[in-house]
Amino acid sequence: MRRKIVAGNWKMNGNRQVAQDLAVGVSNIADSLESSVEVIVSPPYIFMADVISHIASSVNVSSQDVSSNDNGAFTGEISADMLAEFGCTYSIVGHSERRAMFGDTDDVVAAKVAKCIEKNIHPIVCVGETLEERESGKTLEVVGDQLRRALQNLDEAGLEKVIVAYEPVWAIGTGKTATPEQAQEVHEFIRGEIAVINEVVSLKTPIIYGGSVNAENAKSLFAMADIDGGLIGGASLKLEEFEVICKAI
Ligand code: G3P
Repeated sequence: MRRKIVAGNWKMNGNRQVAQDLAVGVSNIADSLESSVEVIVSPPYIFMADVISHIASSVNVSSQDVSSNDNGAFTGEISADMLAEFGCTYSIVGHSERRAMFGDTDDVVAAKVAKCIEKNIHPIVCVGETLEERESGKTLEVVGDQLRRALQNLDEAGLEKVIVAYEPVWAIGTGKTATPEQAQEVHEFIRGEIAVINEVVSLKTPIIYGGSVNAENAKSLFAMADIDGGLIGGASLKLEEFEVICKAI
């Protein structure tokens, strides 16, 4: 039985009070769940301390990114050591917004993944194609290349710590969700690619979907064989909707 995960990526949203209120609300949701779904929240860095002090032990905290460097002269960066010190046990790595707007290349993503593993932080490795790449039939080629490059530095122990998030770029923040069948095709492909590296680990790796998941579509997405949960953006800021999504697994 693979782990089931619902992670809320709050992105650059909210304020101090909103972050505290979401932390308390998500804690109540997590404590009310009958299933064994793992709930993760990913607040903006500046609210991390507030969230950690208001979150229940049943909820894990993720960073939205991480430096590939250790502490030093890297203005504006946040190190894995600093995140770990705050009790951060996960980090989103290679989100399409980091790749598109902030220059994260596949090699930078690979270095960040390796740093997470080194510092005992579980990387949530994001891969996904653009609309142009999908429409030109390159989805599996693009996703496969991103995945292989992101995982290039890992041994078996490191690979076991990885969560993969398939986030089609054209579905992020657009309301245009991948159909369950579209998502399942890519998730099954991702699991197959991980199997090439290590088949035993591939059967355990949580592969979660992100891209306009909401209260209406979560159940049909999560019902698919290789979709092990979701990485939720906008809907994670709305407690009622996030609760429905968490209960959809
Ligand atoms: O990381 C999750 C995010 O990219 C998905 O955003 O708003 O489409 O759920 P959204």
